[in-house]
This record gives sequence, structure tokens and C-alpha cells, in this order.
Amino acid sequence: MTLLHESDKSFWHGFVDFYESFFENKKIEKIAEIGIFKGNSVRWLLERFPNSVIYGADILPIQKVWPIDKRFVFSQLDQGDRILVKNFFSQDFFDLIIEDGSHIPAHQVLALLEGVKRLNEGGLYILEDIHTSHKRYNVKTIGSIEYCSQQKGNALTVLLAIMHYKELGIVIDSSKAQMISEDSLFSKEEVIFLDQNLKSINFYRRAKLPQKCYACGSIDYNFSSLKCTCGVDVFADADSMTFVLEKR
Ligand SMILES: C[S@@+](CC[C@H](N)C(=O)[O-])C[C@H]1O[C@@H](n2cnc3c(N)ncnc32)[C@H](O)[C@@H]1O
Repeated sequence: MTLLHESDKSFWHGFVDFYESFFENKKIEKIAEIGIFKGNSVRWLLERFPNSVIYGADILPIQKVWPIDKRFVFSQLDQGDRILVKNFFSQDFFDLIIEDGSHIPAHQVLALLEGVKRLNEGGLYILEDIHTSHKRYNVKTIGSIEYCSQQKGNALTVLLAIMHYKELGIVIDSSKAQMISEDSLFSKEEVIFLDQNLKSINFYRRAKLPQKCYACGSIDYNFSSLKCTCGVDVFADADSMTFVLEKR
């Protein structure tokens, strides 16, 4: 059992096995992660990729619980500041970027656009918890005005649209890009940039109940209401969604 199997990425969201399928046969040595929290994913990355350097970023200052390792390099930044995000990614070119930061739709968009520019050929960009961009995501529990951008097209809607045309074998031209970007957080040019730079767009959405409740740890639920006995929704419309994007 790896460190990550003890995290909600595994027992709640079910992301881990999905990610592992993309890691096979990849040489992953340069990693960036936005969103450190208690340092669990950094600990996992240090163990999972023993030859890697991990560039981490968070709005928090360095925390005592974070791992101390010469392979972990930290920058404090606000993911809403495009210049700071761009400077963070400018430190290197990456084989893997994990964006698990503020989960605010506009921040997801700007990190995606800056991050993809700094991926190596065949590099992976994980846009975790993209369900926060879903229009059914429960905004009231977040209380941030910036979540209003869920009403606009965002990284979820635009990546799904590009994925749709890729599956049909259709290259996105100016008029399709115009259609996709309309009333969204992306410009037409940014849609074309993503289409041209992404070899594959892979979307995961949990299609079963979580192994245990993230809030109380229970494995028993009120199955008729699809809620945990503690009241948490275990099968919400907007939960447990992630993208793995591969650069051309
Ligand atoms: C979901 S946690 C990250 C969890 C971590 N990746 C893991 O798997 O253990 C989200 C993190 O994003 C950080 N965050 C929130 N808003 C941010 C912002 N505007 N800029 C940068 N980081 C932010 C929080 O401080 C928190 O540490």
C-alpha cells in the first residue's frame, strides 16, 4: 500500500489507479505541483518517483508537517496571479504537472494555459478535482465569489469540447474555436493552442460509491439517499472528476 492509497485521492475519488495507467512507460523526473496542504502528495511523489525533483507551490507559507528533502523545492504564491504562476512554471520544463490548488475555475484555467507551455514532449498535466468547475458543484459550501465563473465555460467545458472533436478526428479551426470559447474563460486562440498542444485528453469521473467516507471514515451509507450516515453525499452530481492531459 503506497502513501497515496491512504489519501482521499484513492479511497474517496478513486483517482490513483487512473493516474497509474498514464505513468507506465514514462520517465518522470521533473514534477510541479500546485497545492501542498499537509504535504501528503509530495511525500507520495518523492517515494513514487525516486529520481525526481518536485517543485511545489501553495498560498501557505512552509508548514512544519511538510517533508524536508533536497528534492522538494517550494514557492509561495497565489494561484490567481498569472505572473506568479508563469514564473513558477518557468523554473524548468516538466514531465508531470499536478494542479490541485485553489480549485477556483478561473485559477484552473490560468494554471492550465501556463502549465501546458512548460510540459516536455509527452509530459502529463493532471487537472485534479475539476468537478469544482461543474455547474452543479455546491457553491454555497465554498462561499467564494470567484466560483461564479462556473456559470461561464471553463476548463471542464472547454476540455470536454476539445476531447469531443479529437475523438471525431476533427481539428479545431477558427469557427469551432469560436463556438467553444463563446461565453467562456478562454479566448479562441487559447482553445486552438490547447487543441494543437495536447495529444490526448483523458477524463475520469467516479462511477461507483467511495470506499469510505472522507468525513467520518464510515463504509456504511444510507443507500436509498446516497448519503453517508454522517450526512455527506456519497454520489453527488459534481464530485470526483479529474483530467490527465498528455502534451504532444
Ligand atoms: C486540496 S489541497 C492540496 C492537497 C495536496 N495536493 C494533497 O494531495 O495532499 C489544496 C491546497 O491549495 C492551496 N490553495 C488554496 N488557494 C490557493 C491559491 N489561491 N493559490 C495557491 N494555493 C492555494 C491550499 O492552501 C491547499 O494547501
